[in-house]
Amino acid sequence: MQLAVLKESVLGERRVALAPACLPPLVKAGWEILVESGAGIPAGFLDDQYVERGAKVVATRDAALAADVVAAVRVTSAAAFDKLRPGQVLIAQLDPLGAPEVSAALAKTGATCFSLELVPRTTRAQSMDVLSSMATISGYRAVLLAAVELPKMFPLLMTAAGTVHPAKVLVLGAGVAGLQAIASAKRLGAVVHGYDVRPACREQVESLGGKFVTLDLEATEAEDKGGYAKAQSEDFAKRQQAALGKVVAESDVVITTAAIPGMRSPVLFTEEAVAAMRPGSVIIDLAAERGGNCPLTRAGERVEVNGVTIIGPTNLPSDVPSDASVMFGNNVTKFLLNMYPKKATEINFADDIVQETLVAKDGTVVHPRVRLLLGEAPAASTPPEV
Ligand code: NAI
Repeated sequence: MQLAVLKESVLGERRVALAPACLPPLVKAGWEILVESGAGIPAGFLDDQYVERGAKVVATRDAALAADVVAAVRVTSAAAFDKLRPGQVLIAQLDPLGAPEVSAALAKTGATCFSLELVPRTTRAQSMDVLSSMATISGYRAVLLAAVELPKMFPLLMTAAGTVHPAKVLVLGAGVAGLQAIASAKRLGAVVHGYDVRPACREQVESLGGKFVTLDLEATEAEDKGGYAKAQSEDFAKRQQAALGKVVAESDVVITTAAIPGMRSPVLFTEEAVAAMRPGSVIIDLAAERGGNCPLTRAGERVEVNGVTIIGPTNLPSDVPSDASVMFGNNVTKFLLNMYPKKATEINFADDIVQETLVAKDGTVVHPRVRLLLGEAPAASTPPEV
């Protein structure tokens, strides 16, 4: 069976679906790996490095698209994939819940499409979870971005030229990205506060040297069975915004990461809170793509309001393309090895991770949530067991 690593088709995307270091376990499992020439260049990997790890470099996209399985980091338009054929397998981030029409267009090719954002957040699937690995990078990168933007330094310095006071960093949302941001800001010497609606986060924030912000609010059932935040009432949101406003105003840097799976991100503080921040302060809103946690965020843009810089990055992992590709590629490798347990021969459709990530098959969208978003009736049958 052939597996192709494609050059990314999304403008500005610098990651690649598999880094050379990810290839050995796949080669061992029987995969013949094709790499579209130059696919790894934006991430810093030369064609020769892939060849050294057992891959064959092909000169054209068409040659790569002839493989049985094709892997990409992101697909945001089906146009670059119209040559997929029935039964061929596509593995990538398809954003099926944000842009279900792309999945619908891909389905028309008859290809079997898997979307990596749908990997369940279970212990067994942890090694395949691209959302977690990429969130780790986003949290780290957000801190660096803030440190560069801030007209102050992060650490406390006592020098002959006087004392430099440490920056105050507030991280809102202490999930994967938030905890990495707390750890990274702490390492740079800032005084770090963390907040999350889930009380279970206190211990994690404190274990990283952060101070947990306790608000005088009662979030009833803040956490669902999977450990994720539940959407809160409008009344709670208003009280939360009022209480967080004071903490935001006292911070030099605010990094926001709060998300509710499958929903618009909660707005955590008001425009008045931003206006009360000192000029020069910085807000990095990692929830920008889903509406933002700050009411003034514009996705993909950098805005300045009353001297406060608000940045709404939408693809920070692509700014660290080398390590991001290694982590993403390791996730893809584990996903493939689980999906084809018998040495790259047949997909195990009975596997729960395979089922939950399967978006399209035999010409139709099969994933229930994606069908719902497309206004289609539930699929008549579940995929056959092999
Ligand atoms: P996420 O990206 O969905 O959300 C980020 C954070 O925002 C969460 O901690 C959430 O509680 C918080 N949040 C949501 N609404 C908020 C509000 N109104 N105010 C303040 N904070 C708010 O979450 P992520 O990073 O995916 O992780 C969530 C949980 O899932 C964590 O406990 C994590 O350890 C766990 N997890 C488990 C995995 C596994 O078992 N395979 C994989 C990834 C995460």
